[in-house]
Amino acid sequence: MARELVPLLLFQSALLASVSSQQGTACDRPNLGPNIVVDLLQRYFQSGAELFLSCRQGYSPLSGPSSIVCNNRGEWTKTNLKCIPKRCPYPDEPPNGYVFYEDNLYQSTTNYTCHQGYVLHGVSSAECLHNGTWSAPPPECKSVQCDLAPIPRFGMIVYDKIISGNTTEYGLGGTYKCIPPYVVTGNARGECTADGTWTEPPECRPVTCPPPQPIRNGYMSDTSQREFAFTEAIKYGCNGDYTIDGSLEIVCQDTGEWSPQPVCMAPCTVGIQRGRILYNGRKIWIADFTPNRVYHRDIVSVYCMNEARKCGYAVPIQCINGKLKIPECYEEPGKLHYDLRSGSLPSEIKQC
Ligand SMILES: *[C@@H]1O[C@H](CO)[C@@H](O)[C@H](O)[C@H]1NC(C)=O
Ligand SMILES: *[C@@H]1O[C@H](CO)[C@@H](O)[C@H](O)[C@H]1NC(C)=O
Ligand SMILES: *[C@@H]1O[C@H](CO)[C@@H](O)[C@H](O)[C@H]1NC(C)=O
Repeated sequence: MARELVPLLLFQSALLASVSSQQGTACDRPNLGPNIVVDLLQRYFQSGAELFLSCRQGYSPLSGPSSIVCNNRGEWTKTNLKCIPKRCPYPDEPPNGYVFYEDNLYQSTTNYTCHQGYVLHGVSSAECLHNGTWSAPPPECKSVQCDLAPIPRFGMIVYDKIISGNTTEYGLGGTYKCIPPYVVTGNARGECTADGTWTEPPECRPVTCPPPQPIRNGYMSDTSQREFAFTEAIKYGCNGDYTIDGSLEIVCQDTGEWSPQPVCMAPCTVGIQRGRILYNGRKIWIADFTPNRVYHRDIVSVYCMNEARKCGYAVPIQCINGKLKIPECYEEPGKLHYDLRSGSLPSEIKQC
């Protein structure tokens, strides 16, 4: 913007020449509107004197004319000249910051602040100058920086995103991990905070489990009576016809306890003397079922008689840890009946 206001000041043309000829008529100092200036050297002006008006620094002229003349009745000619304050451009909000202003007129101020986690580089306030420019450009809001995260002994941090260099930005987080058998004790999350420091890191403490307990009717892969470290595992198995229920392996957990032990479940004997069973889709005479043994959770059926309808039907039963309950409806035939008339047993006649 140009320095447009300075010049148009005073011009008193032909002032001295008219003094003698226009006797008796003179003008007082003119009464001018706000912010209008004129370079007044004297109290009285002869008729014909012309005054050039201008606006005070920081104000611009609006309408006119910009000069007045003292007429021969001793009055100044009229002017509609107004001086209005200059405007600065509307101030911009800095990236990651806020701008506060009430107005953009000459002499008004604008204030700047930064978002949390950002620091202000530059001015925190600026004024609208007489030439319609702000006294300073908007500041920059730069992100708060932290050093790299503090790392506990036997530990590490996995940042939420890849970082480059040896500083981290406000808001960046990470998850702490410890090298087994050490376990994170404290808050596993860390973060670069608004004051430029990292949150307190957790500790890495060693965790061990007591020697594992043997299981009944089973064995384990390691019987040494030592402490086991976090993440160490041992295997279990069951003797003979026992069936494992649960996980084959237990693991020392970060709590210092083992994961749940499995249990060895006993096989069952089918408790009938004379009759046929249905097992794995086959009908077998119990006398031919050797060894008489089904495993934990196995399902085996025995046959019952529907007396009313004279038909037979299979009743499934399940072996649960050595127990196989023969249903009430099952009737064990007498030896004679079984030997001579086995064809009339519920398993042999028409099925219901
Ligand atoms: C406006 O005025 C200020 C202070 O007098 C000066 O530093 C700046 O250069 C001026 N700007 C223009 C565009 O004239
Ligand atoms: C700018 O900050 C000053 C000093 O804190 C305060 O007096 C003024 O009201 C603020 N102006 C605005 C527009 O917020
Ligand atoms: C960061 O790295 C730069 C160069 O790689 C080095 O000059 C500066 O001292 C380092 N700062 C810290 C805090 O390690």
